[in-house]
Amino acid sequence: MLHRDLHLDFNEAFAPQQASGISESELEAVTPNFIQVHRALTAMHEIGQVQFMHLPLLEEVISHVEQRAAELRQNFDTLVVLGIGGSSLGAKAVEEAVLGPSYGSPAAGSKKLYVLDTLDPDCLSRLFASLDLSRTVFNVVSKSGNTVETMAQFLHCWELLRQKLGAEASRKHWIMTTDPQKGVLRQIANQENLESFDILPGVGGRFSVLSPVGLLPSAFLGVSIRELVEGAIRMIKRCQREDLWTNPAGMLAVVAYLLAEKHGRKQLVVFNYAERFNRTVEWFRQLWAESLGKRYDVEGKEVRAGITPVQASGPRDQHSQMQLYVEGPADKMVMLWSQEKFDTDLSIPKLYPEIESLGYLGGKTMGEILHAELSATEASLKEAGVPSFKLSFYGPDPYSLGQIFYLFEIATVYAGGLLGVNPYDQPGVELGKKYLYGRLGRRGAEEFGAALARKLKNKRYVI
Ligand code: PA5
Repeated sequence: MLHRDLHLDFNEAFAPQQASGISESELEAVTPNFIQVHRALTAMHEIGQVQFMHLPLLEEVISHVEQRAAELRQNFDTLVVLGIGGSSLGAKAVEEAVLGPSYGSPAAGSKKLYVLDTLDPDCLSRLFASLDLSRTVFNVVSKSGNTVETMAQFLHCWELLRQKLGAEASRKHWIMTTDPQKGVLRQIANQENLESFDILPGVGGRFSVLSPVGLLPSAFLGVSIRELVEGAIRMIKRCQREDLWTNPAGMLAVVAYLLAEKHGRKQLVVFNYAERFNRTVEWFRQLWAESLGKRYDVEGKEVRAGITPVQASGPRDQHSQMQLYVEGPADKMVMLWSQEKFDTDLSIPKLYPEIESLGYLGGKTMGEILHAELSATEASLKEAGVPSFKLSFYGPDPYSLGQIFYLFEIATVYAGGLLGVNPYDQPGVELGKKYLYGRLGRRGAEEFGAALARKLKNKRYVI
């Protein structure tokens, strides 16, 4: 397997290339802030306080996951992950990118993975009815062990399996991935004597893809988790450099920060030209939004920070959202994603050479046209004065994906430092969880239940 570095091209984010881009003086002015943020991260990392950066080095955990996944592959055909948010998006991203396009058919491979981040009863019951439960293993993934969606699914499936397979036999069909000590999921794993994996206490959901949260489902599918991890380690190494121009995550964070804060580009459109990476964009969207969208800075001052990630897919959105990006409000920057190499390519036959509007396509390949589309988008954005930058990676291989995961995880932490917010918490999400507990009558959340009823009482503008 080729191990190629991903690269970033920031030319169209800077003046004079891009008239509305970042100036050299702006970059110079922010560089000391970046160095400070970088040094703080390095110092915390060195004393073991940035646990997500240690995940790729936990050899014992990685080997254990590999060994258990190999055994599970012998006994089961399907893995169902019950989890949501950071507990689900990484596995989905790996499945789609590495195993193949989910375009029109499930990802290729002999094993199946279903990640249930929904409560839609129609979808769930259809899936449950289609499963051969005797060949299915369930992996409940929840750091807190409290999440309503995940726990509701767990309770339903727990009973389903007990009824279909029997209480004792069904135990072998469960694996819990959760905090080593805290939470109700850990309690149940202990009480019911179920197999479990730990999520390190210092690793939040959206930073957990290279823990057993993402590694176990990936290894079950036959993905080389070694290569994923090697890609991540390579990116961590590249991001050890204090020199901004050689630190990919540093540049990414600084460019996004400057465009948002100094140029009013508060929306970050990820225009992805690699179909198999659409779920990786979803994963990124959650990481970036949940980490940076904060009302208060670390000193408690109200700042309303955040750069809104927007997902777009090329070439589809060239015929949809592109109009808005080019001529609409000047509040967007665009990050283009380009996959250099495809597993296969399709040629266009040289038919109708005499017809002007068809003849020029003959002899080209689909991959070639896709790359041309990206260049055309880049040029249109440039002409429209929309700053852009480009992430290019070699292919849909685990090594590239591992680099992408860590590029964005580290960039998110840097961006949090530049914005002065804590990238690791999510009080806005927790608030929603509290209201939901209140609405569903959980003991201890009565106050939120009553507040919710009060807030939603006066509906004057309903037609
Ligand atoms: O990134 C996060 O912290 C969140 O998106 C969580 O992953 C999500 O809320 C699910 O939480 P839990 O893993 O505790 O079930």
